[in-house]
Amino acid sequence: MNAGPLLRLDSVNKVFPGGSVGLDSISLSIERGEFLSLLGPSGCGKTTTLRIIAGFEVPTSGRVLLDGKDITPLRPFDRPVNTVFQDYALFPNMNVQENIAFGLTLRGMSGRDRARKVKEALELVGLPDRAKAQIGSLSGGQRQRVALARALVCEPQLLLLDEPLSALDASLREHMQNELKRLQKELGTTFVMVTHDQTEALSISDRIAVMNKGHIEQIADPATLYDRPASKFVAGFIGTTNLLPGVFLQREPTGIRFQVAGDWRPVVTGSTELAAMAGTRLTIAIRPEDIVQMRKGDPDTFLGEISSIAFHGHSLRLLVKLGSSSLWVDVPRDRVETDIREGAVIALGLRAGACCPLLAA
Ligand SMILES: Nc1ncnc2c1ncn2[C@@H]1O[C@H](COP(=O)(O)OP(=O)(O)OP(=O)(O)O)[C@@H](O)[C@H]1O
Ligand SMILES: [Mg+2]
Repeated sequence: MNAGPLLRLDSVNKVFPGGSVGLDSISLSIERGEFLSLLGPSGCGKTTTLRIIAGFEVPTSGRVLLDGKDITPLRPFDRPVNTVFQDYALFPNMNVQENIAFGLTLRGMSGRDRARKVKEALELVGLPDRAKAQIGSLSGGQRQRVALARALVCEPQLLLLDEPLSALDASLREHMQNELKRLQKELGTTFVMVTHDQTEALSISDRIAVMNKGHIEQIADPATLYDRPASKFVAGFIGTTNLLPGVFLQREPTGIRFQVAGDWRPVVTGSTELAAMAGTRLTIAIRPEDIVQMRKGDPDTFLGEISSIAFHGHSLRLLVKLGSSSLWVDVPRDRVETDIREGAVIALGLRAGACCPLLAA
């Protein structure tokens, strides 16, 4: 076994017949045992990337390397890679255990070995008593687990999952996210999962590649993507963020004072290398939870008018008008200090210690 990454995409391009660009020079390394998610809006190239790794699609240029070996010319079946498709693609005419045994049979395994492996796989996904069930009699979550078992039983080095949980309701989905993560860590298999759900990606991935229009905007662990997005696109795609126009005023001991969206002049801490001199215009990314309610007249606050209020469980999400901009503000329900209602004017400021990335204007 090689010491380097398990999988490497090296300047992979995909132009479809007719000229539409699917991927624009994707380079990416995936470590052994890693859970990597491909995250991005519809049409950004997530499925195309997965299909190229699996071998269902041939890149226009570039290479796919597994364990350092160029597998670009190999057919899907010749790669140690399995895919769980979005619609599960189970065989409806076979029962659960026949579905799971299918890949093993193709590989020439039969008899007791095959039966043992199928039994182990069923136990792994928590369905030991459904071996003889017909696919049509299973719930969505159970089908998803059968598809996982069918992919895992062949012990792939790499498991590819294309939106595997998108058909499930919210509570089953959260449960299956935990299951997936547990399985992945238990087996030590490398997972690459496609999703357009940022909450899902943030909660289960070791690293996330954020894609936009056929290229990768940033690859990082969830906390880095959240705290230090490399572009406006990433800042806007990961979590809810206020992207506000600002002007650098001056350096102060605790950060940089900016003029933001009208007359607010907060001191901002963040990646300061972009804001080299007074007068520089840039974009400040401020999370809703980093804006806090203050008392009117407190220094560095602004007064805004509440345009709408949404109930978010432990907090209220307000849309507040500030000059010509509008900001999302999260107010924890146990810390609401004044009457919060639509049309009310409230004083707001930056939470002490909030890290607000500064991005090119
Ligand atoms: N077979 C094809 N022929 C022509 N264009 C294609 C083909 N497959 C994908 N594309 C185009 O390539 C781009 C990327 O498609 P892809 O399916 O990879 O997106 P995606 O990120 O998976 O989107 P979604 O979240 O909607 O599934 C899109 O613009 C799409 O229209
Ligand atoms: Mg897709």
